[in-house]
Amino acid sequence: VTPFRFVLGATTLWFGAQAVKDSAGRVVTLGWPVRMALLLIAGGLVLQAGWWVHHHVAWPFTFPRRVRRAMVQLGLVQRDGTTTRYPRLHRKSRSGGVWYLQFRMPVAASSERVNANRLALMERLDCSLRVWSDRGKLHIRAGRHPLPTVHLLSEAAPRTAMLPLTVHLGIGREGRLDTSIANWPHGRIGGTTGGGKTEVLRSLIMQCARQHSPGELQMVLVDFKAVDMWTFAALPHLRWPVVDEHDQAAAVLSELADEQIRRRDLMKGRAKDIDDWSNRQLGESMPRVLVVIDEFADLYPKDADSGEQRKAREAAWAATSSLTRMGRAFGIHVIIATQRPDHDVLPGQIRANTPVTVALYCANEFNSYILLGQGNAAASRLPCHPDGRPLAGRAIFQRSQSYEVQFQAAYTPADEIEREVAGICARYAQHPAIRPAPQTVIALPHGSREVS
Ligand SMILES: Nc1ncnc2c1ncn2[C@@H]1O[C@H](COP(=O)(O)OP(=O)(O)OP(=O)(O)O)[C@@H](O)[C@H]1O
Ligand SMILES: [Mg+2]
Repeated sequence: VTPFRFVLGATTLWFGAQAVKDSAGRVVTLGWPVRMALLLIAGGLVLQAGWWVHHHVAWPFTFPRRVRRAMVQLGLVQRDGTTTRYPRLHRKSRSGGVWYLQFRMPVAASSERVNANRLALMERLDCSLRVWSDRGKLHIRAGRHPLPTVHLLSEAAPRTAMLPLTVHLGIGREGRLDTSIANWPHGRIGGTTGGGKTEVLRSLIMQCARQHSPGELQMVLVDFKAVDMWTFAALPHLRWPVVDEHDQAAAVLSELADEQIRRRDLMKGRAKDIDDWSNRQLGESMPRVLVVIDEFADLYPKDADSGEQRKAREAAWAATSSLTRMGRAFGIHVIIATQRPDHDVLPGQIRANTPVTVALYCANEFNSYILLGQGNAAASRLPCHPDGRPLAGRAIFQRSQSYEVQFQAAYTPADEIEREVAGICARYAQHPAIRPAPQTVIALPHGSREVS
């Protein structure tokens, strides 16, 4: 029963009440309390009808109507002979630039089909889309915020972080994109050269260092290019100096894998994870550890020149795999960046254990499939310059294939990062100097150790 019927009923009741006659044929007028009550009921019903229209009617020339039309025109909703069975709008609401729509689909249309054509719908409607089905309805969340070509981190209003390692990733089609790395718990960043991977990493490192003291957060930075991470060389949060050699990388990552085992033994039977451990104050304080590996493809063992090198890379590889498998509970978070997101460099194990992906522009759709999932070419469709250079910083944030949004990464010019790092160093001037990296220990994948 629609509210319209209520309105109709109430109106009839009102006019009917005016015409009530008694047995002698005289018109009986109702007293004012009854009239007021009827008026209130009628007013309430009108408001309810207004609410219903506001939430359920897809007015012409509005976004919900365009979504419905696009679904029909892209053939996602079948035409039935000469007539088209339209999806019926069940619910709509909007907050800022984000629309939330629920459709009751015609029998022949499945949400599967809409999901499979999400990219085409996004292009046509110029928005980001999340599509899922629940309780017989098709749910659509569409972000329509315009994206800038450059978004400076300093322009984003600071917010109080409720969760550890909360960072402002950038501005997305659904508005601000703030996320907690502790909840990722591991991530991978991929995309072609010049896409902005290193800048994303630098922005994350800077924000984490700004938010947490060295007692709460330690960092391990691995940068084989040896030029991008040196800005952070003096950061008191570093567990070891910035790593730029393969055997050194193997050593520090193996050491971290050992630290993970040590934490596990400490927590066994006493706490379920690092938060639980800190809340119960069970003993030594355990800082979270953020491991950042830029150019992860450089660790690929088969590309090594010598047997020694190969062993080092295999050890680093095995340690990374182990950290991504178990690190979350022990407060160890790994973020890897690679220019070459192919099956060799990102094997299934590492892909499965890094649920968050930041995909910058990919040169071909196969790389996009590896980063975002089979059949998802979104990263290869990101905008680029007319000469084929990627639009730096434009990326897709994906969490376990269930949440995906395009965004413009927050950028901080190098001199500002340097100033910020100098400020952080001054704030923790009392903090002990960074310890040298551990002795070069190579852990073979099967667990035996060899000291070189
Ligand atoms: N979010 C951004 N906004 C604006 N410009 C950016 C952004 N990110 C990167 N850039 C520009 O693009 C350049 C290349 O970025 P970056 O070094 O991060 O690329 P990369 O993906 O790491 O490349 P490579 O794989 O070759 O290391 C930067 O020097 C900067 O000028
Ligand atoms: Mg780089």
